Amino acid sequence: NQLGVVAVGFNGGQCKKGVEAAPMALIESGLLTQLSEDLDYDVHHDNIVHYYEQDIPAEDPDHRGMKKPRAVSAVTEKLSSQVYNHAKEGKFVLTLGGDHSIAIGSVSGTAKAIRERLGREMAVIWVDAHADINTPETSDSGNIHGMPMAFLTRLAREEKRDIFGWLQDEHMVSMRKLVYIGLRDVDRGEKKILRDNGIKAFSMHDIDRHGIGRVVDMALAHIGNDTPIHLSFDVDALDPQWAPSTGTPVRGGLTLREGDFICEAVHETGNCIAMDLVEVNPSLEEKGASETIRAGCSLVRSALGDTLL
Ligand code: ARG
Ligand code: MN
Ligand code: MN
Ligand code: MN
Repeated sequence: NQLGVVAVGFNGGQCKKGVEAAPMALIESGLLTQLSEDLDYDVHHDNIVHYYEQDIPAEDPDHRGMKKPRAVSAVTEKLSSQVYNHAKEGKFVLTLGGDHSIAIGSVSGTAKAIRERLGREMAVIWVDAHADINTPETSDSGNIHGMPMAFLTRLAREEKRDIFGWLQDEHMVSMRKLVYIGLRDVDRGEKKILRDNGIKAFSMHDIDRHGIGRVVDMALAHIGNDTPIHLSFDVDALDPQWAPSTGTPVRGGLTLREGDFICEAVHETGNCIAMDLVEVNPSLEEKGASETIRAGCSLVRSALGDTLL
């Protein structure tokens, strides 16, 4: 079992410092050792947390209301090719963020590799309190971590090469192959986008009504059973009780057990080809940092096949 790991210490998709320290904290808590020793993966990691200092431009004025557009674009362009290089060899790719803007890099990289290797379109399961599908125009915050799915589906596009103009058709994800789980804080403009485009979304309300087991079954049924899956997991999908140290916590979320269950069930399909773990911010709610890190490690182990029995 081959596992490529990319550690991305990037915080420029939002305004709070600290999320760049997450990959180091996750690795120091023993995550990669557990994956190689307990779960038997051949872990391919260069032992570098990438901060991409050389790629981040000094001048980066707002563009269409987006904050730090050139920095996010440059970092995700680099990350996209790192992830692509792992995925094109058939490795499972684990990307440790960083804020959720980095999914522009990770998802575009796997989407391109899966197209080339298998001639297939990949699905994305986005587990999050938020939909992260604002366009620059619908976003109230201008934070690009609230926009990645808009750029990855072409709902948002920009011609300037240094502001996501590098994204090609081969990097894109179909809106029919996108499924959300855990939503509970979706902006007005995002609700319209989800509705107008018929994007499949399971909110916390759906989980209360049907239970996590049926929701995951329905999500997987929507995708179909031989489609490669990229799992993008924002730790704020979990209730702040389990993951308090994150930039935009929202009450009323998943239990850690429900989060682990999603990851286990996605693993069991045999179709999962990549995972992102993002938005762990060890410097927020310092009392809760170690808990949040432990929760993040648990989610990753579950997605990589750790079983209870
Ligand atoms: N919807 C809000 C925004 O656009 C919050 C996004 C939070 N995203 C995240 N990856 N935590 O700014
Ligand atoms: Mn690396
Ligand atoms: Mn979120
Ligand atoms: Mn998110």
